[in-house]
Amino acid sequence: MKNKASLKIKASLKIKASLMGILLCVMFVVGCGKGNETGEKILRVGTNAEFPPFEYINNDGEVDGFDIAVMKAIGEEMGYNVEFQNMEFKSLIGSLKTGAVDAVIAGMTVTDERKESVDFTNTYYQATQHIVVRVDSDITTLEQLNGKKVAVQEGTTGDLLVTPEEDNEIITDSSTEVKRFKKGTDAIIELKNGSVDAVVVDANPAKQFVSANEGVLKSVEVEGITEEYAIAVSKGNEQVLNDINEGMQRIKENGVFDELVETYINGTEQSVRKHSDNPVMEFIYTLEFVFISTNGYKLLLQGLLATIGISLAAVLVGVVLGLIIALMKMTEVQKGKKTLFSRIATIYIDIIRGTPAIVQLLIMYMVVFQSKMGIVAAVLTFGINSAAYVAEIIRAGILAVDKGQMEGGRSLGFSYGETMRYIILPQAIKNILPALGNEFITLIKETAIVGYVAIQDLTKAADFIISRTYETFLPLIAIAIIYYCLVKLLTKGLNVFERRLRQSDIR
Ligand code: ARG
Repeated sequence: MKNKASLKIKASLKIKASLMGILLCVMFVVGCGKGNETGEKILRVGTNAEFPPFEYINNDGEVDGFDIAVMKAIGEEMGYNVEFQNMEFKSLIGSLKTGAVDAVIAGMTVTDERKESVDFTNTYYQATQHIVVRVDSDITTLEQLNGKKVAVQEGTTGDLLVTPEEDNEIITDSSTEVKRFKKGTDAIIELKNGSVDAVVVDANPAKQFVSANEGVLKSVEVEGITEEYAIAVSKGNEQVLNDINEGMQRIKENGVFDELVETYINGTEQSVRKHSDNPVMEFIYTLEFVFISTNGYKLLLQGLLATIGISLAAVLVGVVLGLIIALMKMTEVQKGKKTLFSRIATIYIDIIRGTPAIVQLLIMYMVVFQSKMGIVAAVLTFGINSAAYVAEIIRAGILAVDKGQMEGGRSLGFSYGETMRYIILPQAIKNILPALGNEFITLIKETAIVGYVAIQDLTKAADFIISRTYETFLPLIAIAIIYYCLVKLLTKGLNVFERRLRQSDIR
């Protein structure tokens, strides 16, 4: 038998090394979440990049567009380092209220209702509303939408325009069905699929949607409605309000604003897409369009890395926390009755397993982190979530080790803790590792919801591709295949690993 002291040293070295590893990972993740710290004034700006040409995701997966360029130019004039946060349109005003962002630029129309919650800068763009329909439709006015099915982006002025309410004088038929989408493009896809009769949306995006779907969609202007876009800041934030107004004034005077209008609004070109009557060629052209010419492959690659990174970091958090929870729960085996620790552990496992991961994620991100540091919030959520399952895996693994092992260890003079460390755990690991592997696989698939907190993972990448290409089948099948391969690869790896572990059993 090896002597006790050398066993101890080895084990403690191992523990130290793994703790260091975990610490590094956590530091890395926290570091990623934090912005730069150069002392320059930071202006956090919320937007909803689903509104071309004002804001959209460009071919490199970054927020881009007229509004974005205007905001950057203003920032440059006024000495701000502008950081964008892409979120749902209807969350923008709320984020100003909670202080998660300092300003919002999102082709946002000034309305009396919004003025009650936020302050607006001077207006910078005049817009109208359009009705987008399929080419064979004879709808030309808002009145004709009475009793029809209409799709809109949730919370926009288009939404208000077609929702039958007391003060809506045009849409008075309460049987009018309004389908609200988080993204304008989803409304457009719904229209293309024939599930709704029209989409009501601002003029410029409408034109882009139509030109990207030539021969399928057309649009008409709603008569008699003009809207003004402005940047919103939180109520009473005069410093930022004045700075933005001042900056806007300057870029209008020095010609930058007009240049941006030319580049982004007048000169926007859609990526031209080839068509063919031959179905095979058409399929190849579509593949080319979705994955190559609009850089879809890049988005998928970035997304894949994010998915893997978050899963790995979360697994580390989960294993460490899970081990602690398992040991806390095991105190009741040692003491032969429930302890404070075991009770805490039981409650923890109970709550985590009793609530959906998406709810936990939203609580962590919106409540705890106040809509900041999405990556850290996601890693912590999945780590904490997975810890509950890991704890049960570890506990079951330990309990599966024959009781006689503990008795043997104790009678050799080891303490309870020592027997655990040197005799029980090494054996339990064989039961635990395969199950842990499965937990990792589950986790990878579960992270598909991180798009909710503005992280661009694999699923979100498909979402972006759909927004930009109006193609749904290919991007979704593509990520399904990628997830599948990832899981298959891991399963294969785990099987090999497990076989190795079992080899030492055959004597
Ligand atoms: N102008 C409309 C509004 O204020 C639509 C704006 C939508 N903007 C966006 N980034 N999705 O309601």
